[in-house]
Amino acid sequence: MRTDTPQTIFRKDYTPPSYLVDTVELGFDLDPARTIVASRLTLRRNPAATTRGIELHGEDIELVALRLNGKLLGKRDYTLANNLLTIRSAPDDVVLEIETLCAPDKNTTLSGLYVSNGNFFTQCEAEGFRRITFFPDRPDVMAKFTVMLRADKARYPVLLSNGNLLEEGDLDDGRHYALWEDPFKKPSYLFALVAAQLVCQEETFRLADGRDALLQVWVEDGNLDKTDYAMQSLKHSIRWDEEKYGLELDLDRFMIVATSDFNMGAMENKGLNIFNTKFVLANPRVATDIDFQGIEAVVAHEYFHNWTGNRVTCRDWFQLSLKEGLTVFRDQEFTADMIGTATGRAVTRIDQVRTLRQAQFPEDAGPMAHPVRPDSFVEINNFYTVTVYEKGAEVVRMYQTLFGVDGFRKGMDLYFARHDEQAVECDDFRRAMADANNRELGQFERWYSQAGTPVLRFEGRWDEAAQTYTLTLFQSCPATPGQPEKLPFHIPVAVGLLDAAGADMALVVDGQQRGTTAVLELTEAEQTFVFTGVTGQPVASVLRDFSAPVILQGGYTDADLLHLFSHDSDPVNRWEAGQRLAMERLLKLTGEAGANDDAAASLNLDETFIEALRKILVDETLDPAFREQCLTLPSESMVAEQLECVDPLAVHIARQFVRADLGTRLRNELLAQYEANATPGPYSPDAASAGKRALKNLALAYLNAAPDAASVALAQRQFDEADNMTDRAAALSALVAARVPQAADALAVFYDEFQNEALVVDKWFAMQALSPTTDLAAVRALMTHPAFTLRNPNRARSLVAMFCVNNPVQFHAPDGSGYAFWAEQVIALDALNPQVASRLARAMDRWRRYAPALQWQMREALQKVAGQVKLSNDVREIVGKALA
Ligand code: PHE
Ligand code: ZN
Repeated sequence: MRTDTPQTIFRKDYTPPSYLVDTVELGFDLDPARTIVASRLTLRRNPAATTRGIELHGEDIELVALRLNGKLLGKRDYTLANNLLTIRSAPDDVVLEIETLCAPDKNTTLSGLYVSNGNFFTQCEAEGFRRITFFPDRPDVMAKFTVMLRADKARYPVLLSNGNLLEEGDLDDGRHYALWEDPFKKPSYLFALVAAQLVCQEETFRLADGRDALLQVWVEDGNLDKTDYAMQSLKHSIRWDEEKYGLELDLDRFMIVATSDFNMGAMENKGLNIFNTKFVLANPRVATDIDFQGIEAVVAHEYFHNWTGNRVTCRDWFQLSLKEGLTVFRDQEFTADMIGTATGRAVTRIDQVRTLRQAQFPEDAGPMAHPVRPDSFVEINNFYTVTVYEKGAEVVRMYQTLFGVDGFRKGMDLYFARHDEQAVECDDFRRAMADANNRELGQFERWYSQAGTPVLRFEGRWDEAAQTYTLTLFQSCPATPGQPEKLPFHIPVAVGLLDAAGADMALVVDGQQRGTTAVLELTEAEQTFVFTGVTGQPVASVLRDFSAPVILQGGYTDADLLHLFSHDSDPVNRWEAGQRLAMERLLKLTGEAGANDDAAASLNLDETFIEALRKILVDETLDPAFREQCLTLPSESMVAEQLECVDPLAVHIARQFVRADLGTRLRNELLAQYEANATPGPYSPDAASAGKRALKNLALAYLNAAPDAASVALAQRQFDEADNMTDRAAALSALVAARVPQAADALAVFYDEFQNEALVVDKWFAMQALSPTTDLAAVRALMTHPAFTLRNPNRARSLVAMFCVNNPVQFHAPDGSGYAFWAEQVIALDALNPQVASRLARAMDRWRRYAPALQWQMREALQKVAGQVKLSNDVREIVGKALA
């Protein structure tokens, strides 16, 4: 916690480390109040260095002793200021022995070494290792680690660290030890230890090269009935990486450990992944389909980091997307392959597009907009963003779109051939892709350096006499903080042409046969492509499969969209046409609702739109999962994103009206789908069953958006009878949203039944927090519930962040009470855990877009936080940028 002006760090200021570390030996005497860390480092001067002194980072730790080549150093031999220990002059080869103290039980930040439920865990990315011992804590310093753990045996029977277990045994006084060695060089951010009372599910698994690896999933006692799915996901991930990329597990042992106190989803520490329980624990009784999907994706993500992140790592934190964008892309492809079917793939792609629109586009248009490879930051923890992760994944996907799956694989192979066991830059990845495919990708670099979402427009003209279709594409990109002007991007635009019957035309572009989808490469601000042999007026399907992370603006008439929604062979664009039809209507209704106090009575939805949805809803040739996506409306925040001046209440009224109107006018069809998509028999999380449940529960939600007694009874029956959490939670949400008296009883029953399942209690809080029926007073009441605490990030997020981010109509209450609450909670959280506080702080990013009466109250709340004398760099950066 610092009170002075935080310092900005620039990418251009990178200098190589003055010393390299070859080996690290760490000894831990673990004690919650007073842990002793002894470190022995062998260092050697970096021939590439431009600076001379040894520089070690250290934060919130006490230096006990420091020896250089055996000699005890005194206060005159080094300086220690601003969390940096500098030894100004030292020989070329150095052995440093460092003894430090820390207090894990006082560490509420969950960065460094901390205690959770009485167990020890570490979290070192990005800069947590310096909270454990003094070290050149930067990712371009890679060393071999040996770790000795000592702790009380009864209290901490399990002692884990990275790599392989060399030795374990008993010590005096009831203590024991374990010695671990990681055979690979790694940066400090990948270090981990666990000392705990845990149990594990384990299995030996035969790798492609015939070696056997030991796989373990460690959890608290009582949770072994919830580890199967994580284990299965791990095995699938290992297999997939072998088959898809020829990448094998390089260790004899791979461990996953779950903790309930964790800032993020999970962490890819070498051989010892530490996970938020949310992404490990699942069985049908406590976890929903979405939870199962999340576990599969996150287990895969962390496993894939073993190559993309660990074996090849980042030179500096500005290159974060090098590992994160690539690894997200890999987990996305894994998820798609696990489903296997073409529509299954499209359904996962639609989920990705939704995430981008819901979270990344707003980030890219707001005060925190930054390039995929940022140029500067105050606090690196603020840059674990949807831009670095999800837009980064889109940038990686574009290589595959340009070069095909085989070309992409060639680029990956070259990347590993060149850079294994190195710390490199995003540019190195781009160069490997370019060189492996003999392509010049200079302009493509702008995807890494320019922030903001490009806007794509198109104009098409069919010439009957010439039988040509001329497609002109235009691109532009809005200014973002620090980047007033943008240069054109290299954009792959996948295009198809539909004939009057809705069939794909065979494409000939510039004289070349291009199948039925052509990937056009747009590199100029404006460019024209000529399709020949076009015998009738086509409807263009532009940006198929969402081939680039851009905003496609205009270009379509309602009739075009209806045609695409009925016929497009590309499921993503088919869905997209429906979303555009819905968005146009939501925007019009929002305008009407805002202009008229008695709006709800006069709103109305055209029969054409209802008919289009009806046709999709009952089309048995389409997967239920896809139909569910087509019937799901853009969220309130997506609608808000389209408006220059947001009135959250009007948006809410409009969207609620559409939901209720669909519930009324499609009642019979919804009821029929509700029945038809029952999933009898034992629960299975597979995509087909999950898709059926999704459609069934969407039907239930729409029916209860205009609740009559029968619909409420349906929800109540499902709540009472369902044997799985997906259906129970959906039924409970429907009851809560329907504002019926049964909701309170059901909430009580639910809590009673699951009060010992922390992750379900989170759901219980979240469900209430995001219901438009829950006002701030109700949130405050929930905060006094004995199960509520700000100290556990999952719990804090389930109530406070859910309300501030996902309950717009209540959060933006006209009296500004939501904003005052936000300020109060950001400040309270900041004192405990700056990373969690800082995420919550971002709820105000888009304050300038709101109606003036809300805007000034939002600014006041931001100023209140910014005016705090004691504030972390994390929160100070966010509110500072919001107000700038
Ligand atoms: N590197 C982790 C991941 O993406 C995320 C993470 C970042 C976790 C920082 C903890 C702290 O898989
Ligand atoms: Zn990651």
